[in-house]
Amino acid sequence: LRQYRQYKGFWFWPDMMLPGFMAAKDHFIPRPSDILICTPLKVGTTWLKALAFATLNRNDQPCKQSLLLSHNPHDCVPNLEVILYGRKRLPDLTVVPSPRLLSTHVPYQLFPTSWLSSGCKFVFLCRNPKDTFISYWHYLNKLIEDVNHKQSLGDMFDAFLKGVHLNGPLWDHVLGFWNASLVNPDKVLFLKYEELKSDTAVNLKKLAEFMGCPFTEEEERDGVLEKILDMCSFESLRNLEVNKTGTMPLKLSHDIGNEVFFRKGEVGDWVNFLTPEMAQRLDQAMEQKFEGSGLSFKE
Ligand code: A3P
Repeated sequence: LRQYRQYKGFWFWPDMMLPGFMAAKDHFIPRPSDILICTPLKVGTTWLKALAFATLNRNDQPCKQSLLLSHNPHDCVPNLEVILYGRKRLPDLTVVPSPRLLSTHVPYQLFPTSWLSSGCKFVFLCRNPKDTFISYWHYLNKLIEDVNHKQSLGDMFDAFLKGVHLNGPLWDHVLGFWNASLVNPDKVLFLKYEELKSDTAVNLKKLAEFMGCPFTEEEERDGVLEKILDMCSFESLRNLEVNKTGTMPLKLSHDIGNEVFFRKGEVGDWVNFLTPEMAQRLDQAMEQKFEGSGLSFKE
């Protein structure tokens, strides 16, 4: 099995993410105008990146928004620890104009003081843990190069319940941002995939306001919001040529196709994979961890 290493209570692959995070921690200097998309894996990061990018860049001239038609959202909103700082050479992010839109899978508890005191904003998205796990299981088996190392659902489930998965434990990851959003709602926006699915427009407006670029009445009348929703829908993104045939620049021995980020995009797909007993175990574990926090993932 691929090795995980624990760093300050969270699990990483030692060759991926952790060295990149160490470099980002030491060298990335956030600006107050930066917006960081923060997520555990497989909670809809790709979708949130597209929505945030399209919203933030809707009035640029020439319009940067249309980059989403030819680029995967992960290219438009690069990840700090995997892509930007996950290479040998340090990136020069000072040349990127404000507001910079970047992303990370690193939990809030690990953020250095320099990030927390920078005044930048964090948009966090999470998802029902059962769907997160199923999406993660599918994804990870694509990332694992060696067929002999691919993991059965049962084995990965047991590890997940122990918190041993990339950037896990999931409950601590989620609670870190949840608690921060209660203390500092102007700086930390907490979103859930299911709510984003059931009322995308309301949540998009919330996101735009949070990012400091609310939709005007005129824009709403002119269908600007609708256009973004449409452009970023699962079907639209999945059907773009770049997402059907393009690949991700991950440092793996094999290419990862962009299509891996567009599997089903549904709420509740876990019923097709988890036994009722597994579902109950995961629910109970999460309920226990979230007890007293005011956070729940009840369906
Ligand atoms: P499934 O595996 O359940 O289909 P991430 O972007 O964090 O890696 O998460 C990937 C999950 O988000 C996948 O879930 C994927 O299908 C879903 N997803 C990607 N784009 C989406 C979109 N535009 N709308 C809704 N879900 C989307």
